[in-house]
Amino acid sequence: MEESVSIILSGVHHAYQEQPVLHDINLSIPAGSIYGILGPSGCGKTTTVKIIAGLLKPREGQVKVLNSPLPDLSVMNRIGYLAQSDALYGDLTGLENLRFFGQLYGLKGSGLRDSIDRVLKLVHLQHELDKPVNSYSGGMKRRLSLAIALVHRPEILLLDEPTVGIDPLLRQEIWSEFTRLSEEGITLLITTHVMDEAIKCSHLSMMRQGRILASGSPSEIIRSCGAGDLEEAFLILSRGGSEDES
Ligand SMILES: Nc1ncnc2c1ncn2[C@@H]1O[C@H](COP(=O)(O)OP(=O)(O)OP(=O)(O)O)[C@@H](O)[C@H]1O
Ligand SMILES: [Mg+2]
Repeated sequence: MEESVSIILSGVHHAYQEQPVLHDINLSIPAGSIYGILGPSGCGKTTTVKIIAGLLKPREGQVKVLNSPLPDLSVMNRIGYLAQSDALYGDLTGLENLRFFGQLYGLKGSGLRDSIDRVLKLVHLQHELDKPVNSYSGGMKRRLSLAIALVHRPEILLLDEPTVGIDPLLRQEIWSEFTRLSEEGITLLITTHVMDEAIKCSHLSMMRQGRILASGSPSEIIRSCGAGDLEEAFLILSRGGSEDES
């Protein structure tokens, strides 16, 4: 049976001004997968996610999301995007932020209220809702941003380092929710530089200096490198590419 694919990147290159940052990125992200992009700071994870979200146009290459070549405005409504830096209205309360973004996605009335209740339970912000976001801690802002990304139940969720600044217990609950969402057929693309999150992904691409080093399930990647764990696999793959060091 043919696996359905949510996101395809073929031969994507990108540069900021004259500085090349992505080199020949090829990705095929199956529907309903939890697809991780693992790599160190500055390797190009956020740039890749912004291209898939339609926020950046790559210098070269094709991007297809839900069978439509980008740019395509109608596809953007079917995507939830959690940016790496929180884009919240500081003067508004948490609830007002959730309402605002929920309405932007077309939710209203009891549908909006039910959706807000559902995501608030997940991120445990029920008691902070009436405070302005300016008074939130970094972790609280992260949790609110995650709630906003989840509020309209998109078909694709692009989550750029979703659990940074979130404590281990809540992180576990959030990962259980990711699993539940993927079981419902929602595709999750998650960037991380943490091995213990990468290992939980169904599919993974390891990235370094703007290139994909390897893609597959975490266990396939470990096996194909003859490594004991993901960290070792990453080191082995990085050494293999060391002649590209600039
Ligand atoms: N707006 C920009 N203008 C110029 N260069 C940029 C810009 N955004 C990113 N870069 C550069 O592009 C490269 C990739 O950055 P990117 O943000 O995609 O990395 P990342 O893997 O998300 O890193 P991190 O883990 O720190 O978030 C880096 O060298 C960065 O300095
Ligand atoms: Mg980033």
